[in-house]
Amino acid sequence: MTHFLDINKTDPGDLRHMVDHAIEMKTARAGLPKGTPDAEQPLAGHMVALIFEKPSTRTRVSFDLGVRQMGGQTMVLSGSEMQLGHGETIADTARVLSRYVDLVMIRTFEEEVLLEMAEHASVPVINGLTNRTHPCQIMADVMTFEEHRGPIKGKKVVWCGDGNNVFASFAHAAGQFGFDLTFAGPETLDPERLFLDEARAKGVTVEIERDADKAVANADLVVTDTWVSMHDSQTARERRHNQLRPYQVNEALMAKASPDALFMHCLPAHRNEEATDAVMDGPHSVIFDEAENRLHAQKAIMRHCLGV
Ligand code: CP
Ligand code: NVA
Repeated sequence: MTHFLDINKTDPGDLRHMVDHAIEMKTARAGLPKGTPDAEQPLAGHMVALIFEKPSTRTRVSFDLGVRQMGGQTMVLSGSEMQLGHGETIADTARVLSRYVDLVMIRTFEEEVLLEMAEHASVPVINGLTNRTHPCQIMADVMTFEEHRGPIKGKKVVWCGDGNNVFASFAHAAGQFGFDLTFAGPETLDPERLFLDEARAKGVTVEIERDADKAVANADLVVTDTWVSMHDSQTARERRHNQLRPYQVNEALMAKASPDALFMHCLPAHRNEEATDAVMDGPHSVIFDEAENRLHAQKAIMRHCLGV
């Protein structure tokens, strides 16, 4: 069973192939209307379940469109409308869904839900975000970097802000794709040590720097994300804002990175909080390429999981 649960759980050769394949598939449909089927229809006859226990715009639309472009069909399910939200076990849900569909993508809260789904499903399961990681996003981000700047191997990526689920998948990717990573944020919002140690064990440099100006020196890519994630308690909002304000990505900070540094944000953004309009809409920003590339990267991920 080929699941796509996390970047650190996938073979580096397979990850490389998926990014290259995503770029090939994107190139092959350049300029075509969005609803045009791909020339190849590898998902013909396949049914894909997309389960959302949290809100989504990009993940929902890009997975649905990607399946359709490849000739498959989708059903989009919200957790609260399923028996899953009313006491049925994850294991039984996985067993039942496996009788109906060929692939399951799930966005959920606790990572354990994803892992239990994968353990009991007899079809591939894809992680569409948990409280802990967001691997599909970072596959799209690696693809986006490489489209603009060539191989990401050996480059310096700087994360400014909360040590959250999106950062965690960047740390996984650092180890697997071979780039250096600096975390710039307050100690109270540090990422789990395990993510940093695992990347270091794969031979890349991973640093923590409390001074954002110092952190971004020579950065090839500056990344941030919302200061309050979907699973974070809203009561901590003000405290988080106060702690994270020194790590806002603004023009002054971007000016300290490499002159050709890119800026990324997975979106949705809270404009003028974690990043200013001038940066989000400025010359370094590739945020909408990232959003588009979710489509292409996930098509490659689905083909990898289904072996088609
Ligand atoms: N970046 C991302 O996953 O966006 P959505 O929450 O809109 O899916
Ligand atoms: N860190 C954010 C990412 C959203 C795509 C969250 O989990 O809410």
